[in-house]
Amino acid sequence: MAEVLLCLFFLTTFLGFVAGQQTNCSVPVGASLTATPGVTPWLSSSSDFAFGFQQLQGNDNFLLSIWYDKIPDKTIIWYPETSATVSRGSKVELIDQRGIVLTDPQGREVWSTSGSFSDLACGFMNDTGNFEILGNNSGKIWESFSYPADTLLPTQVMEIRGQINSKKNKTNFSRGRFQLRLLPNGNLVLNIRDIFSNFPLNPYYVSGTFDADNSTNSGYQLIFDATGYMYILRRNGQKYDLTPRDALPSGDYYHRATLDPDGLFTQYYHPKNPTGNASWAVIWSEPKEVCFNGRIGSGACGLNNVCSLDGNRPKCECPRGFSLLDSNDPNGDCNRDFSPRCDEGYAGDLFDFIELNNTNWPGTDYAHIIPTNEQSCKNSCTEDCFCAVAVFANDQCWKKALPLTNGKKTSSENVKTFLKYQKDERPLQRPPPFLKEKDQRSLVLVGSVLLGTCVFVIVVLIGVICLGFFLIYKKKPTYPYASSKAAESNLPRFTYQELVEATNGFKDELGRGAFGIVYKGVIGTNIVAVKKLDRVVEDGEKEFKTEVNVIARTHHKNLVQLLGYCDDGEQRLLIYEYMNNGTLAAFLFKDMKPSWKERSYIGVGVAKGLAYLHEECSTQIIHCDIKPQNILLDDYYNAKISDFGLAKLLLMNQSRTNTGIRGTKGYVAPEWFRNTPVTVKVDVFSYGVLLLEIISCQKSVVFDSDKEYVEVLTDWAWDCYHEGRVDALVENDMEGLDDLERVTTFVKIGLWCVQENPSLRPTMRKVVQMLEDFEVTDPPCPCPLFCTSI
Ligand SMILES: *[C@@H]1O[C@H](CO)[C@@H](O)[C@H](O)[C@H]1NC(C)=O
Ligand SMILES: *[C@@H]1O[C@H](CO)[C@@H](O)[C@H](O)[C@H]1NC(C)=O
Repeated sequence: MAEVLLCLFFLTTFLGFVAGQQTNCSVPVGASLTATPGVTPWLSSSSDFAFGFQQLQGNDNFLLSIWYDKIPDKTIIWYPETSATVSRGSKVELIDQRGIVLTDPQGREVWSTSGSFSDLACGFMNDTGNFEILGNNSGKIWESFSYPADTLLPTQVMEIRGQINSKKNKTNFSRGRFQLRLLPNGNLVLNIRDIFSNFPLNPYYVSGTFDADNSTNSGYQLIFDATGYMYILRRNGQKYDLTPRDALPSGDYYHRATLDPDGLFTQYYHPKNPTGNASWAVIWSEPKEVCFNGRIGSGACGLNNVCSLDGNRPKCECPRGFSLLDSNDPNGDCNRDFSPRCDEGYAGDLFDFIELNNTNWPGTDYAHIIPTNEQSCKNSCTEDCFCAVAVFANDQCWKKALPLTNGKKTSSENVKTFLKYQKDERPLQRPPPFLKEKDQRSLVLVGSVLLGTCVFVIVVLIGVICLGFFLIYKKKPTYPYASSKAAESNLPRFTYQELVEATNGFKDELGRGAFGIVYKGVIGTNIVAVKKLDRVVEDGEKEFKTEVNVIARTHHKNLVQLLGYCDDGEQRLLIYEYMNNGTLAAFLFKDMKPSWKERSYIGVGVAKGLAYLHEECSTQIIHCDIKPQNILLDDYYNAKISDFGLAKLLLMNQSRTNTGIRGTKGYVAPEWFRNTPVTVKVDVFSYGVLLLEIISCQKSVVFDSDKEYVEVLTDWAWDCYHEGRVDALVENDMEGLDDLERVTTFVKIGLWCVQENPSLRPTMRKVVQMLEDFEVTDPPCPCPLFCTSI
């Protein structure tokens, strides 16, 4: 009897098991997939859809997703919205009691299905594109259709409070700005969300399927039926068509409706058995007005961006004076290239306007003046520090502040849009990113065609083009706009390969310094100096960015301008403007003494540059290595300090001496050798030595036979000054001897600067003042010990 009972028990268990086992089960409990290239996904029975890891473009990022497996581009239709991409070696597993669990290569859980999985039997990739988890007794206990990402498929239904979100852009599957929602009042809406709070902003599309009384008329389901027909179902059974009647193509097609990264909700179709290079075609999309104005929110394009039509899509373009915050996201926000200033010192006369063609940000004004004229409109914007843009049309004036929203191209002739800028930061028409060979070739091509017709025209044409380039490139260095940006500054970033090309494989060496070798290069039409840094702090990536940003923010006539940088793995390079007249060292210590006038002008320039670094730029910069090799001369013999801002990259703690001495023998201040803090006064000391060199055209140190250096210049200068023989310092220099008052002033300043006691040295600001006013008291002996021993 017991055997019979036992047998019966096994039989029922077995039968129950067979009955519970869903006929279509394709993914058993315990099945798993590992994110590696080419791993076989879990397929639906017809192989139309696959569930697994898709490798994203050219790197080791994988996305857990569902896609169309039979069409070449493997279009993704679902992904867990909250998990970003995962790296190679991540794993997805169907676990009893848990459902689907995604873990990273370290085994940490990244995402899992939510719900109750006590009855879990198996997983199943349905031919509809729906991944289902089936229970032993209860049918579906989880399905991907209930957690849509950016796409709906035929047979999928969205209920009240359902929503889908666009992805950020083509390649980034993080949640984007746009949402499609079915509201409790029955309306289907498209809206932008505030990405920081996730709060939905004003809709830019509304279906109108609502009923104020929430009665029979209101919509309650968005239905995408099996034939590919999409509509809103009202409570009274009526349908509100989204797919126009008769719009569906006949034949065997895949259908999907996706909220695209540009904000358009679009129904697409694709032949199931593609011939040739078939692709997705559009059946319909919403909104119809693609450059919509949502009032609140950025508009179709990001903040400060401007929308125009590109077929049935919005095309976004930053206006002149702005550039993309994220170059991978052309529909995203634009950042102002120049700094808006609204501080106490605001002075309207420092500002001017450029006119932006056919551009407006309608409905985002904070002031509206009627009636007025164009000049008064501009004036009121000039005076008003918050005003960023003034629009004048039909005797009316609108003023707008940043950020500008709902930007779009207008065709209206009589609307004039003026962008305000500070005069010394005039936004340039950006040159094309590198003047590519291709472009040059097409110029030549155009040229040859014209040559066939009229030689005269081409001569004139070339003249005009040359003049154009001359004016554009000569007046102000405009720099090719590279693909990415330095954090917080718009400094172009270059790849190492671009710089290898720009310098012809680092062929032409310009010089060697404490930080690396400098090479000559050409970027676009500009000659540049490329400094290859060789001794940057380890793990200093962040510091590097920070320092580059500090340097990038310095703008002064007497500083070499940083034009770009490269931060490619190990390779750190800085790109500077190229200085035609070489270093001050070469200039001063050549056989023919340069003129005193030029020398004194250079001396003042260096002082001004240093004063700026110490006191006027936003982050104080101590140079630490002022010497004639680090001063460059431009076409007009303006002194330009180079290599500033780099000291920190080698030496993180500037205020201590025990971290090693920076600087060059003969120019370093004595406190480097003592346990006293290092301050801006070390630069003042070096400047003093430099100034004495500029006066005398003598090197500050000479090497004796044992290759030991002896400092002579400061001692000699003190002796000359002390003994009233300043003229000896400018021996045989007629121009200097004629200008002895200035020479004496400069010598006194030099001696003040090289005082052994840092607190006796003047600040650089004071130095500039003394150089210009000639009012200097008599300096004490720079080195008291030396003097007493005399
Ligand atoms: C697959 O989807 C179809 C259509 O929704 C549904 O009828 C069927 O039951 C699903 N298959 C399973 C095994 O759940
Ligand atoms: C995608 O965008 C998000 C949000 O802006 C960002 O944090 C993430 O790094 C991006 N991912 C990739 C792979 O670029």
